[in-house]
Amino acid sequence: MKEKLEQIRREALEAFDPASAATVQDLEALRVKYLGKKGELTNVLKMMGKLSAEERPVIGQMANEVREALTAALEERRKALAAAALDHRLAAEAVDVTIPGKQHHLGHRHPMYIALDELKDIFVGMGFTVLDGPEVELAEYNFDKLNAGEGHPSRDWSDTFYFDTDSRVMLRSQTSPMQVRAMETMELPIRIIAPGRVYRKDEVDATHSPMFHQVEGMVIDKGVTMADLKGTLNTVVEQLYGKGTKTRFRPHHFPFTEPSCEMDVQCHKCGGVGCATCKGEGWIEMLGAGMIHPKVLKMAGIDPEVYSGWAFGIGLERTAMRRFKIADLRLIFENDERFLEQF
Ligand code: DAH
Repeated sequence: MKEKLEQIRREALEAFDPASAATVQDLEALRVKYLGKKGELTNVLKMMGKLSAEERPVIGQMANEVREALTAALEERRKALAAAALDHRLAAEAVDVTIPGKQHHLGHRHPMYIALDELKDIFVGMGFTVLDGPEVELAEYNFDKLNAGEGHPSRDWSDTFYFDTDSRVMLRSQTSPMQVRAMETMELPIRIIAPGRVYRKDEVDATHSPMFHQVEGMVIDKGVTMADLKGTLNTVVEQLYGKGTKTRFRPHHFPFTEPSCEMDVQCHKCGGVGCATCKGEGWIEMLGAGMIHPKVLKMAGIDPEVYSGWAFGIGLERTAMRRFKIADLRLIFENDERFLEQF
């Protein structure tokens, strides 16, 4: 039996060398073969019972030594394999930090949103809250509650995108319905602006698009007058276009304001003399505004004997075009990088 144990030791230690135990799987097979439950060493131990009382402890001790030697050799080999595997992985995953990186092309805000953010900053600085509202709107809010009842020409099918045959649900044609939504939901006094998309059945050309943007503004409080409207808008224009920029207010008509006006800004190109940009006028139209009609206040549950207010609606594309001297509205929507990169 001694010889058998010696033989197992010799054979096993040889087998654990890198040539025959090249992988973790090889090593595991060898472990089973020599040290496993049905392995060679166990087979020898099973025969211990046949030994004499003197022989048994001697062989027993020797068997233990062989087991320890094999276990140690196995463990050593396992460590060597693990180290080799790690080396291999490190080599495979090595990163060459000297290779030049890939350049990422960073975009920036769209010029129209730059203009909008400037407007928002100015109004927020004056205590206004910025509201967001639905683009799919009820005609009730877009028209009725703004004093443009049945039969008003702006409700015509040729101007408005309706979703249904009885003209109740539509793409809003102006941001003015946000005036009503604010009146119905907010505590008085109110100071809001509401920017967003609006839709009208217009053909695309240098100054028209079936989708464009407006910024609605509204103030309601006790004792609010037309002088507040003019003062506020003049301040905004000077902050947007520079100190000393002149404005002019012309009488106009809107169903939801009384009196109503349009505000022009003196042409930035010619300083009011008249040129191609202002079509010889010296002035460029910027927005519609007015004192909120008492009927509109009343419909929203606000007493016009106690409260008064003003409102305005600015065309955002036009503001951006003026701000950045853009000649054609289509450039704003085409998303041509050669154009956008300039801002
Ligand atoms: N909603 C008007 C339009 O689309 C613009 C406008 C005019 C808004 C007067 C107002 C206002 O709030 O008071 O042409």
